[in-house]
Amino acid sequence: MTEGTADAPPGTPETPEAPSVGKPRLKEYDGEGITVTFEPRRCLHAAECVHGLPEVFDLSRRPWVLPDAAVPERVAEVIRRCPSGALQYRPAAGGAAEEPDAPTRVRRNPSGQLVVRGDLLVAGEQGVRRETRVLLCGCGASGNQPYCDHSGPCAGPGDDVAEERQEPSGTAR
Ligand code: SF4
Ligand code: FES
Repeated sequence: MTEGTADAPPGTPETPEAPSVGKPRLKEYDGEGITVTFEPRRCLHAAECVHGLPEVFDLSRRPWVLPDAAVPERVAEVIRRCPSGALQYRPAAGGAAEEPDAPTRVRRNPSGQLVVRGDLLVAGEQGVRRETRVLLCGCGASGNQPYCDHSGPCAGPGDDVAEERQEPSGTAR
């Protein structure tokens, strides 16, 4: 992981510095003012999105994301709270893209994950991706390195596990 300055939106492949074996599996939810993308393998806890804007993010509904159920600025604000980077957004023409935090900050949380926010280039199985928010695996057990996937001791009793998230029951369209 290094700092970068490229203009690509967060979550997109950035450079061929690492071997790429495929694109990230993203779900896209198009709205008039904003497009929301969701990467199920990186979603680790049901908190910021569903609590921050339940009218937009509702696990009991299909689709579970309705980008036009709030003003785009508010949707973007709540997405920026998503610590894992599972949620990203692309504003419609004229809208402001996400700005990375500066300076970049890294901390280890009590579960052992590395919480990182800033202007990042993250090397993983999809190559090098520009990121602004990531939860990195601090134990080595994740099957989605370098991102945490709750395969290790970080998972709490109420957490889902990696195998279940491959076929999400609560977050698919
Ligand atoms: S999408 Fe982000 S904020 Fe929402 S539950 Fe998953 S990790 Fe948490
Ligand atoms: S810290 Fe979560 S899988 Fe390693």
